[in-house]
Amino acid sequence: MGNKIRLGIIYGGKSSEHEVSLRTALSIINAVDPEKYEITPVHVQLDGTWVKGKPAAGQITHVEMLRLAESAAGTGMAEGALQQAGGGKAAPVLALGREVDVIFPVIHGPNGEDGTLQGLLELADIPYVGAGVLASAVGMDKWMMKNVFAQAGLPQVNYVGVLRSRLQSDLQGIVDQIERELGYPCFVKPANMGSSVGISKAKTPEELVNALQLAARFDRRIIVEQYVKARELEIGVLGNEQVITSVVGEVIAAKEFYDYEAKYKGAGTELQIPAQIPAHVAEGIREMAVKAFQAIDGSGLSRVDFFWNEENDRLYINEINTMPGFTPYSMYPMLFQAAGIGYAELIDRLVQLAIERHADKQQNIIAAEELD
Ligand SMILES: Nc1ncnc2c1ncn2[C@@H]1O[C@H](COP(=O)(O)OP(=O)(O)O)[C@@H](O)[C@H]1O
Ligand SMILES: [Mg+2]
Repeated sequence: MGNKIRLGIIYGGKSSEHEVSLRTALSIINAVDPEKYEITPVHVQLDGTWVKGKPAAGQITHVEMLRLAESAAGTGMAEGALQQAGGGKAAPVLALGREVDVIFPVIHGPNGEDGTLQGLLELADIPYVGAGVLASAVGMDKWMMKNVFAQAGLPQVNYVGVLRSRLQSDLQGIVDQIERELGYPCFVKPANMGSSVGISKAKTPEELVNALQLAARFDRRIIVEQYVKARELEIGVLGNEQVITSVVGEVIAAKEFYDYEAKYKGAGTELQIPAQIPAHVAEGIREMAVKAFQAIDGSGLSRVDFFWNEENDRLYINEINTMPGFTPYSMYPMLFQAAGIGYAELIDRLVQLAIERHADKQQNIIAAEELD
């Protein structure tokens, strides 16, 4: 038991991707070598309550065992809620630092991969897998992400950012601006969602207004983009300051765009790995993915998504996902599998990268007095 890595896995979350997260956590737990890791599951329930389980090595075999309830009824796995009176729903996680060496947060979307959870883990001084606060926050906000990509000189479709408050005061002005700068069809997205929630394609002024109003229900920041008819190509990035990339994969969606249904209910989407594309396109994707990862100060892992217009051979970056889908059948692990790095090894590497990044940070001095 002595020199095992004590790995905490935080999963679930107040998120539409709660169930996906549970399945991912189970996959990770089942994949890692029980001789090497002791796992402490931490379930963030749908209402935001944190429940910590007992440390386990290999005994967690079914997703139901990860649904830790405060009462622990039936499972015998839960140690108790981390919630404490007056402490906020997540504050007691700070105490986890004494019980685990590293944490793998597998919560997608807001409150999971947007830097908030990462900030909590920074305060707790626990090494954690994946992007830090800054990269997570930039990667989560599609509007800010695009501004950062633009600054890095990465090609992307034209876009217009809109604040919700402007919908009340200047709706016609917004429509005029979008028609002038983008035209139809355009894509309207809440800046902070992911999983294609609240996203729509607008082909007329009426559809645009409806799309803006729908997006505004999910976020106060909205992004509108030019539509591009293109193939959707994705690549994995792994590392901290030195990175490697995976092979390129393609998402082939049967529906009009790759939406929530298509993504999670498997409604006709197909992953083609490796993508059948010319070598120069794969090379362009590789270069741009590394640039994008570095532009947001990424660490650990990211999946970077592209649009490639085959007719005119133009490549645009679409987005970077700092906590991509991570079941063994998700794009990111499959892209690395095809590059010769299997799922268990990928987890080993991510854990090491987390520890290295945490150690690197310890080099910082806090006050000028510490200078020799
Ligand atoms: N500008 C665009 N042009 C054409 N299709 C788009 C555009 N933006 C998004 N899409 C389609 O919508 C899907 C979801 O958009 P995306 O920005 O990737 O959001 P999510 O964070 O939900 O993955 C994309 O995978 C693509 O199929
Ligand atoms: Mg996407």
